[in-house]
Amino acid sequence: MEIERMSDFFTARVEGYDEHMLHSVEGCKEGYVKLAELVPERTNTLLDLGCGTGLELDEIFKRLQHIKVTGVDLTEAMLYKLRQKHSNKDIELINADFFKLDLGVEKYDAVVSFQAMHHFSHGDKIELYSKISRALKNNGVYIECDYMVTEQSDEDYFFSENERIRKEENIPEDEFCHYDTPCTIDNQIEMLRKAGFTNVEMLWRMGNTTIVIAENK
Ligand SMILES: C[S@@+](CC[C@H](N)C(=O)[O-])C[C@H]1O[C@@H](n2cnc3c(N)ncnc32)[C@H](O)[C@@H]1O
Repeated sequence: MEIERMSDFFTARVEGYDEHMLHSVEGCKEGYVKLAELVPERTNTLLDLGCGTGLELDEIFKRLQHIKVTGVDLTEAMLYKLRQKHSNKDIELINADFFKLDLGVEKYDAVVSFQAMHHFSHGDKIELYSKISRALKNNGVYIECDYMVTEQSDEDYFFSENERIRKEENIPEDEFCHYDTPCTIDNQIEMLRKAGFTNVEMLWRMGNTTIVIAENK
């Protein structure tokens, strides 16, 4: 089995992407609506990490038409689609790696990510979650909807397979590749707590699509 570089993977699939997420991944269609409902009414500034073509923003804009959005994504072709859909909105799109990008301090009322975090190690995620916590204003919320599992044995299996395939294909450690490594819900909650969030809970789940909310209180 070959794994593709992250950006190549999404560039090659951008045309059928929205259709696939909405109709073939259990819980996504409903998850976009649910996540949008959880974004607090008071939100003026929102950061979307791994915003892709903007499927979660489609729902968020239905509720909150006038928010100022910053979207970050590694894949330019995905951002191009988003720009076409929401050209009349207040959106800044940044084509960058969210691990390397400076997210600023106390800039956002809400940070969201949808199906963008299930490819990374615990260590990288904890560092990113700390940056997110710092980028949030007082009483800000981080809402993550992602592919999560319940059993540690499943998480261990995906991580060890990822390591094995990367070794076989001589992929450098710092290269982002598309291989799913979902974490357990318990580990997700623990990582967010380690990053400094005080209130963390799972709020919703359909299939493996799971929403966790984290607050700085
Ligand atoms: C499964 S898609 C989700 C897109 C969108 N949030 C949605 O639910 O439709 C994952 C997205 O995360 C982006 N991504 C993956 N790793 C990234 C990174 N390190 N920095 C920025 N974007 C990244 C990919 O380019 C892709 O567009």
